[in-house]
This record gives sequence, structure tokens and C-alpha cells, in this order.
Amino acid sequence: MDTTHRDLYHAFVDQGLDAWLAKLPKQLARGLDRKRYGDLPAWEKAVAKLPVLPAERQVWLDRDTVTVELALSDAQRRQSENLLLKLAPWRKGPYSLGGIHIDTEWRSDWKWRRVAPHLSALAGRRVLDVGGGSGYHAWRMAGAGAAFVLVIDPSPRFYYQFQAVRHFVGDADGGRTHFLPVGIEDVPAKLEAFDTVFSMGVLYHRPSPLEHLQQLKDALRPGGELVLETLVVEGDETTVLLPGERYAAMPNVYFLPSSAALCQWLERSGFDNVRIVDEATTSLEEQRSTEWMTFQSLADFLDPEDPSKTLEGYPAPSRAVVVANKP
Ligand SMILES: C[S@@+](CC[C@H](N)C(=O)[O-])C[C@H]1O[C@@H](n2cnc3c(N)ncnc32)[C@H](O)[C@@H]1O
Repeated sequence: MDTTHRDLYHAFVDQGLDAWLAKLPKQLARGLDRKRYGDLPAWEKAVAKLPVLPAERQVWLDRDTVTVELALSDAQRRQSENLLLKLAPWRKGPYSLGGIHIDTEWRSDWKWRRVAPHLSALAGRRVLDVGGGSGYHAWRMAGAGAAFVLVIDPSPRFYYQFQAVRHFVGDADGGRTHFLPVGIEDVPAKLEAFDTVFSMGVLYHRPSPLEHLQQLKDALRPGGELVLETLVVEGDETTVLLPGERYAAMPNVYFLPSSAALCQWLERSGFDNVRIVDEATTSLEEQRSTEWMTFQSLADFLDPEDPSKTLEGYPAPSRAVVVANKP
């Protein structure tokens, strides 16, 4: 067994994810392939060089800021901060690790506050977070009592950000939280293994949204719950925006349905009990440049004359959360 990923393999065995287990060696090798990702060795080194931490620590996964309190010397704190900065840009958070506050581009806690009240209680559930970024929401899911949380995200930078946070959290989550650097298309077909599947901020990046919904449904056990968050536009069930090359300066943005159209997509995909539980326009306080994400952010992607529009003239980002069940 590849000992680097021993905990992940053990978790897959414990969870009875046999159909997936055999694929892990190849998926890990591809997801963390140094030939594909030139910066990967630097990220790996940064995580490996994080200082050995005192065993004594207090960890809060149920706070807005995922927090690890432990006693670091000034030198250890400086060293840790420098290493964590090598993993920048940090987009999803916030985190407080040994007194280092990682002020991420996104206040992902705001999204979690919009989503969490509408979920079936996560306690004891087996959860998949598709496109989970650095894993911020996964820690919050573990904090809400989930028995097993798996983030899948093909970005190796986010994989190493997760491993850096893992270094600080240690085993305080009981080893319930994991990250596999793959995309939704790598989840074995018809897995039907998860009680709750999250797909937040992913659907609009998929060129075939109905295929994405089918893949999410395949990962759920019968009766399981889908929690999906995506960009929406105003309109009725016939309204869908397909922007040009860019939307709010982002490439790879495909379909933005109205909330009503989104519900219809889910119903046509065979989900039951489909309901929109939240709608919100993204504010300049929720997504902004910080010391940990120094590139341009939302304020730069809106029309300076009319912030209700993107630079390209489309409606400014607005998001809906929809919850549904697999029959
Ligand atoms: C906008 S971010 C959303 C992050 C987080 N879920 C949130 O809501 O804050 C979209 C994420 O989807 C990931 N992603 C891109 N292609 C994917 C795929 N094929 N399968 C799963 N995740 C994917 C990206 O790497 C990125 O982390």
C-alpha cells in the first residue's frame, strides 16, 4: 500500500467503497502528477516543511472560522505563515491556524450559513462534497457530525491546502474528513454510496449540466439528499443564460438557469421533493481580494458604472441553493 495515502485507503475500506478502492492508486497518481502540474513539488514541499506541532490543541469545526488553537513559538508561527502563503491564492475559508488568520477571497462561512439550516441533519451521514475547493465546507460538515466526508476536487493546489489544514487539525476530527484530487467524472458509475451529496459552485462550470445532475444522482443512495448551489438568473422555467467566452471575467462558465428552470432540470433528472431554499446576490464583502488572494476579485469583474451588471453586461452573480432527494 502507498503509505502516503494510508488514511484515505483505510477510510475507503471502512466505508465499504470497494468499487472505488481499486481505482484509487491510478486516480491519485494522475491527480498528483508532477508532469501535469509544474508547481506541485513546491506545494508538496511547503506542506512537508510545516513544523511539528504540539499534540495539545483545541479545534473548532463548528465555528464560522475553522479554528485550531495551539501554542506556537514566534519562529514557528512565522515559518508556518510563510509556508501557508506558498499555497496561495487561498480562495475558500476562513481559517485560523495556530493564531494565523487565513482571510480567504470568499467568506465561505456565509454560504454555509445559507445552506446549513436547510439540510437533513448531517450527524452520522456519509457525505460527498463535489468541487469542495480547499475543504472549508468539508470541515464544517465534519463539525456538524458527519460520519465520513469526502471532498473531490481536481485542483492539486486545493489538495495541498487541505493537507496543510489537516496538519493543524491533526486527528481532532476522528479522521472523518478526506480529500481525493479527482473530478466528478472519476466517481465510479452507479456508486449509490452517499447519504448527502453537495455540489456547490460547480454546475455552471459544467458544459453538460444534466449529465452533472445524473452523476450526482448516481453517487447518492436511494433516499439520499442532494444539496446544490449554483449561479442563477431572473426568469421563469424557460429562462437559461448561456454567456459568451466570459462571465464576470471567468472562462468556462456555461449554463445559468433561473431558479424555476433549475428545479425543472432536477425534476427531469428524476429527483423528488425539489425545493429552492435560498437565493442571494453575491456581495463585494463576500468575495474580495485579501492578503491571501491578491489577484482581482468580484469588484473588478462588475461594471464600474452599474454594479448590477458584470463587465460583459450580464446580470451580476446571484446564487440559489436547491435541495432534493433521490427517490
Ligand atoms: C467555484 S468553486 C466552488 C468551491 C466550493 N464548493 C464552494 O462552493 O465554495 C468550483 C470548484 O469546482 C472544482 N471543479 C472543477 N472541475 C470539477 C470537476 N470536474 N469535478 C469536481 N470539481 C470540479 C474546482 O477546482 C473548484 O474548486
